[in-house]
Parts: sequence; structure tokens; C-alpha cells
Amino acid sequence: MDLLRNFAVLEGLDGSGTSTQLDLLKRRFLSPGADLPPLYVTAEPTGGELGRLIRRALKGEAALLGETLARLFAADRGEHLYGGGGIVERAARGELVICDRYVPSSLVYQGLECGEELPRSLNDPFPAPELILFFDLDPHIAAERIRNRKEREIYEYLEFQIKARRRYLSLLPVFRSEGSAVVQIDASRAVEEVAEQVWAALKNMPIMRG
Ligand code: TYD
Repeated sequence: MDLLRNFAVLEGLDGSGTSTQLDLLKRRFLSPGADLPPLYVTAEPTGGELGRLIRRALKGEAALLGETLARLFAADRGEHLYGGGGIVERAARGELVICDRYVPSSLVYQGLECGEELPRSLNDPFPAPELILFFDLDPHIAAERIRNRKEREIYEYLEFQIKARRRYLSLLPVFRSEGSAVVQIDASRAVEEVAEQVWAALKNMPIMRG
């Protein structure tokens, strides 16, 4: 697995606050006078054809086998990385690309659903991010944060999220051994404090130092 420079990903349980932090980050990059690289914020599943099918399955509207979902996530990721205007192209031309969820989500979520081997082999060919920010949060607190959401997706129940946190924690050393910098974010803190932790980690990327 190659390392993709200028590429950072946010990972964590459902309800760990990654989307909120990405919104804040976008604003920070827009503030006048900030001498920062161009930022491209994106997410998986994507808004493309495959991503939309995945979203329907996550809502329980399309009944698919766990294995099929694992393959769809990987196919969506392939398009996201290598399609026109995709992650690889942008990172190569000097944009800072930040993605809400990536390979680790498949290794954790699909790993729990259909065993380690399939998501591992499907995702092995994809590049490793330069930086992985793991938003760590007690699953009970994460569940409380998403309790009032209108729609509940197939993975959003406490027992699954407890297992997901365990699996994330056990995989962090593996990601490090594959060359990614891994930073644990204490996602239980106030939004501004989490933003500072995120900023401190991003600042260390060579692209941010100009
Ligand atoms: P997310 O966008 O974080 O949730 P939402 O937009 O509903 O707040 O992710 C959607 C769900 O998809 C989440 O439960 C994690 C899951 N997922 C996987 O199972 N495997 C993957 O490879 C990815 C990228 C996401």
C-alpha cells in the first residue's frame, strides 16, 4: 500500500462529530489572509451513483448482502480516488484533500459484518492516507448525540458501535505500521477544543508548512 501525500482522513463512530469539524475547517481556510493551500473536503460514501446506492442500503431501503455492501464501498472508493477530479489527481496537484471516512471505515464496519478478509483484500490496493485523525468517543455518548436524528442507519445501534470502537482501537497500530500518521482526537471535548486538536495535527503535514 502506497502512501498518498496531502491526503488526510477523519474516522470515528457515528456521532463522533467529524462533519461538524469539517465545516469549521472549511471556514478556517476561507478566512482572509490565511496563507494556506487549496482545500478539498470530501466524504465517503460519495454523492455519486454508487454512493447513492450505498446510502439507500444504509437506510434499509435496498436489501443487500454485507459482502455486496463491502464491494460497493470499495467500488465507490475507486471512483473517488481515480475518477476525474478525484482524490489522487487533486492531492498530486498540491491540494490538501480531507475525506470524511475512508478505508478504515470499511475495515471496521464491513470487517465486523462480513469478516476481516474481504474488506482487507478489496481495500489493499488503495493508497494509505498521510494522516488519519481518529475521533475517539465513548459509544454511549456518541449514541446519545445521534439519538434525535430522524433516520437511523443500519450500523447506528449501540452494540455495533461498541464493537466498532474496539476494532478501530486495535487497528490504529496497523495503520501506523503502514506509514500513516495516526492522531487520536478526544472527541468528547467542546467543539472549539476539538477544532484545536484537529488543527494541531493538520499543521504538521508538510503541505501546511509550505
Ligand atoms: P457517515 O457519512 O459518517 O454517516 P452520516 O452521513 O449518516 O452521518 O457514514 C455513513 C455510514 O457508512 C456510517 O455508519 C459508516 C458507514 N461506512 C461503512 O460501513 N463503510 C465504509 O467504507 C464507509 C466509508 C462508511
